Amino acid sequence: MKNTIGNSLTVTLFGESHGKAIGAVLDGMPSGIEVDEEYIASQLTRRRPKDALSTPRQEKDEYSILSGVFEGRTTGTPICITIPNADTHSKDYGEMQYKMRPSHADYTANCRYNGFQDYRGGGHFSGRITAALVAAGAFVIPALNKKGICVSTKIKSIAGETAEEKRNAKILAAKAEGDSVGGVLETAVTGIPAGVGEPWFDTVEGMLSHAVFSIPAVKGIEFGLGFGFADKMGSEVNDQMYVDGDNVKCYTNNNGGIIGGITNGMPITFNTVIKPTPTISKEQNTVDIIKMENTTISARGRHDPCIVHRAAVVVESVTALVIADMLVSKYGTDWLAK
Ligand SMILES: Cc1cc2nc3c(=O)[nH]c(=O)nc-3n(C[C@H](O)[C@H](O)[C@H](O)COP(=O)(O)O)c2cc1C
Repeated sequence: MKNTIGNSLTVTLFGESHGKAIGAVLDGMPSGIEVDEEYIASQLTRRRPKDALSTPRQEKDEYSILSGVFEGRTTGTPICITIPNADTHSKDYGEMQYKMRPSHADYTANCRYNGFQDYRGGGHFSGRITAALVAAGAFVIPALNKKGICVSTKIKSIAGETAEEKRNAKILAAKAEGDSVGGVLETAVTGIPAGVGEPWFDTVEGMLSHAVFSIPAVKGIEFGLGFGFADKMGSEVNDQMYVDGDNVKCYTNNNGGIIGGITNGMPITFNTVIKPTPTISKEQNTVDIIKMENTTISARGRHDPCIVHRAAVVVESVTALVIADMLVSKYGTDWLAK
């Protein structure tokens, strides 16, 4: 199941950046869930390029729902969503057939698929495919919200800056030099009950990491205090507990709402690192894999000087899909529709 994730609620991705369309199949959704088409469109808009801070590639993301929805509600059968690719400039990518972009998946895809992969625009490895993940997530998020569970991802920093004005200045400066920057996203899941997750292999951290690392350009994730635990004393960072009515709570949430792989009823919190966009116009060393010789590359084509803000809704969407999958695995598929 190389392109499928999930246990009870599964998502399969398909498509290439410059192919006819990309899409997702969402299977395991309960029947009777209201489908909010405006919400799906608004989530897709959040993923689209943002004026001067992003790539000039403009896709309308006019999605189609091919199956699994009837008279505005889910039928309970597989939902297939397709999003056509329109604004492609494939000739900009010609040399990428043999000149490998450093830090992009050109070389690894070539090794994996023996040169038969569609290399145009990064093919199946392109950030473009994340539009399908966002569309799939948009089926699940309103259902979670009705259950009192909210997922939100926002920008923590870009190029080390936290203030929006300074962040944008860093992006524009990188763009002017034909370069790129990365950053950190912070995610919180509120309203999740205690007792969700499994020990050892299907821990909540493990399941979320699995999905979040599927997003291109994600290179790290930390839960709660994460790497900040390393130089602290136990007495400084233990999440001390207290009784609040019928609930057990913690005074702090350094463990990010997960202990022993299982939710403790506090918000799930994690940070995700997005690397600087690999494709840049600044000249870099690389290889020509046909001639098997060293060369240089300076990317043509249209690329984002920063993808952190576009990745936020993607992280939010995969988080919602994982949380929904874990909840329906525990409480049963129809629980999400009740
Ligand atoms: C929303 C989004 C948009 C992206 N756009 C670009 C892009 O325009 N140019 C590029 O080189 N990489 C882009 N990427 C990142 C690459 O797809 C990614 O770095 C590459 O596939 C290698 O995978 P890895 O970084 O996870 O190792 C984007 C990623 C996301 C999530």
